[in-house]
Amino acid sequence: MCGIVGYNGKDKNTLRILIDGLKALEYRGYDSAGIAYKNDEINIIKSVGKINELENKIDFNLNTNIGIGHTRWATHGSVNENNSHPHNVGDITIVHNGIIENFNEIKKELTSKGYHFNSTTDTEVACALIDYYYKENKDIKTSLVKFMKKIKGSYALGIMCKDSDTIYSVRKDSPLIIAKNESGNFIASDTIAVSKYADSVMYLDENVIAEITNDKITLFDKDLKEVESNFKSIDKSTNNTDKCGYDHYMLKEIHEQPKVFRDTVSPYLENGIDSLIDKMPDFTKYNRIDIVACGSAYHTGLVGKNLIEEFAQVPVNVEVASEYRYKNNFYDDKTLVIVVSQSGETADTLAALRKAKNDNIDTLAIVNVEGSTMAREADILLKIKAGREIAVATTKAYSAQVAMLSLIALNLASAKGNIDKEEMKVILKDIKELPVKIENTILNSDYKNIAEAIYKNDNIFFIGRGIDYALSMEGSLKLKEISYINSQAYAAGELKHGTISLIEEGTPVIGILTEENLILKTISNIEEVKSRGAITTVITNSDINNNFDYNIKIPKVHKLLQSLLTIIPLQLISYEVAKLRNCNIDQPKNLAKSVTVE
Ligand code: AGP
Repeated sequence: MCGIVGYNGKDKNTLRILIDGLKALEYRGYDSAGIAYKNDEINIIKSVGKINELENKIDFNLNTNIGIGHTRWATHGSVNENNSHPHNVGDITIVHNGIIENFNEIKKELTSKGYHFNSTTDTEVACALIDYYYKENKDIKTSLVKFMKKIKGSYALGIMCKDSDTIYSVRKDSPLIIAKNESGNFIASDTIAVSKYADSVMYLDENVIAEITNDKITLFDKDLKEVESNFKSIDKSTNNTDKCGYDHYMLKEIHEQPKVFRDTVSPYLENGIDSLIDKMPDFTKYNRIDIVACGSAYHTGLVGKNLIEEFAQVPVNVEVASEYRYKNNFYDDKTLVIVVSQSGETADTLAALRKAKNDNIDTLAIVNVEGSTMAREADILLKIKAGREIAVATTKAYSAQVAMLSLIALNLASAKGNIDKEEMKVILKDIKELPVKIENTILNSDYKNIAEAIYKNDNIFFIGRGIDYALSMEGSLKLKEISYINSQAYAAGELKHGTISLIEEGTPVIGILTEENLILKTISNIEEVKSRGAITTVITNSDINNNFDYNIKIPKVHKLLQSLLTIIPLQLISYEVAKLRNCNIDQPKNLAKSVTVE
C-alpha cells in the first residue's frame, strides 16, 4: 500500500535520498509515484508506473535539502498523474497513506468556500483542508490540530508548507516512522525506506504532531505541549534487500524457511518442553480462543484451529478481521483473542485487536515486524522470526506463523497433560529434524513438471479435508495472487455438491492428503474428478498407489508440524506457474504488502 518518505537536513542530495527511499518501499505495492522538493519554491514531479519512470524525469544535479516522496496504491480515483501524490493546494503540499472517509462532505464545504479540485482523490481534499485552516490560523500546528479533529478515517501524512523549511507529520491508523542521522531527519512508512542513511528511528504515536527541521525533531500533543521522543538505533542487519542470486524475493524467501523455522521455535525450546511452558503465557485459563486475521494470516489461523482443537481440546473460532471488527463477538473474560499479522499494521486486524482490547478481552499478537502497531498494542506479543519479507505473496512469514500456532497448541496440550512422554519425544525429535526436511522438500524438482502441465488453464482447484483443507486455501490464494489464474479451494467432500460441474477434460485438481484417517475419503474425491477428465496431482505424506497424474511425496512428521512441509509444494507450484506465465512474481498487480486501509 502507499509508501511515504521525506528528508530535511544538510545533505543536498535529497532527490537521491527520496528515490532510494521510494525504491525500498516498492515491495508494498504501488501504481504511481511522485516527489516534492523545495529550493526557492515547491516543485512537484510525478509519474505513473515504476519508480524508474519517475527517476528518468529527475535532474539529480539539482541541490535541495528538503523533500517528500510517495508511492500511490490507488483507492480514490484511477491511476494517473493527477491523482498521484504529492498534492498541492494553496500553501500546502502533502503525501498521504490511508483513506479520508468523510472527504466528500469536506469537499462540498471547501468547494462552497472557493476551493477547486484537480483530482478525484481524498488526499487533495485533506490538503485543501489543511490549507484552509492554515489561511485561517497562520500556524501550521494549530491547523493540524483542527485537521485531526475534523477528519474521519486513516492517515499518515508528510506535509510541506510554502512559507517554511519544516516538514510536519501526523498519523492515525497508518504507520509512520521518524528517523535521523548526524546530517538530517527523515520520515517514512517503514524503516527500510531510510535505513541506508539513518542511524536511529522512532514510531510516531497517534495524535502527535512531528515538527521536523533540518537539525531538530520536536513532537507535540494535541494541546501543543511538547512530548518526548524515543529513538532506538536501527538494526541494519534486518534490512538486507539482496536477492542473493535468486530470481525473485519469493523464491529466496521460500528457501529461507528452514532457518526461519529454527529461529522462530528454538528460543522456546532451549530446555525442551519446560522452557516452552515457561516462556509462553498460561493458556489454560482460557476456554475459548478467537483467531482473527486477513488473507494468508487468516489461513494460518485455520491451521492453528485444527491443531489446538485436536491436541489441546479448546474450541477455536477463526474469523476474517474485516468481518470480526463489525460483528457481535460473544467473547468473555475466558476468551483469548489472537491476532496474526506479518506486518502488524493491517488495518482490519488492528481494528479487531483494538475492539477486543476495548471490550477488556485478553489479546495476543503473532507478528513479524518489530515495533509495529499490533506488536506494541497487544497485551501479549509472540514475535515470529521470519526476518524482512519483501515478496508481496507471503511464504516464510506464513510458515513462521504456523510454527508459532503449533507451539501454542503444543504448549496448551502439554500443560493439559494431553501428550504423553513418548509422543513428546517424537515431537521434539521431529522439530529438530524439520529444517532439513523442509530443505529437501524445497529441492524436489517435480514442481516444474506439474507447472508445465497446468499453467495454461483458466481454472485450478485445490481440495483437502481437515487441516489439508486449510492448506488448500493457502495454496489456492498463492496461485491466484501471483499467476492470476482463477482458483478455488474446496473441502474435498463438498465438491460434488455443485462445483464438480466445472470439472472437464484437462481441469487441474490438486489434492492434499496428509490427514491420516481421511486420506481414503479424499482419494475417492480425487477419483471422482479424475473420471471426469481432471489432471490430478496429489501432495501426500503416505504411499498412494492410485493412478494419479502427479504424486508429490513429502516426509511424514507429527501432525503438529506436518503443515510446514505440506505448504512447500503449494508455494513452489504457484511460483513455477507464475514464472511460466511471465508474471511479476514479487509485485503482483493490484496487491499491496501491507494493507493499511479497510
Ligand atoms: C498473502 O500472500 C497476502 N499478500 C495477504 O493475504 C496477507 O497475508 C494479508 O494481507 C495479511 O497481511 P498481514 O499478515 O501483514 O496482516
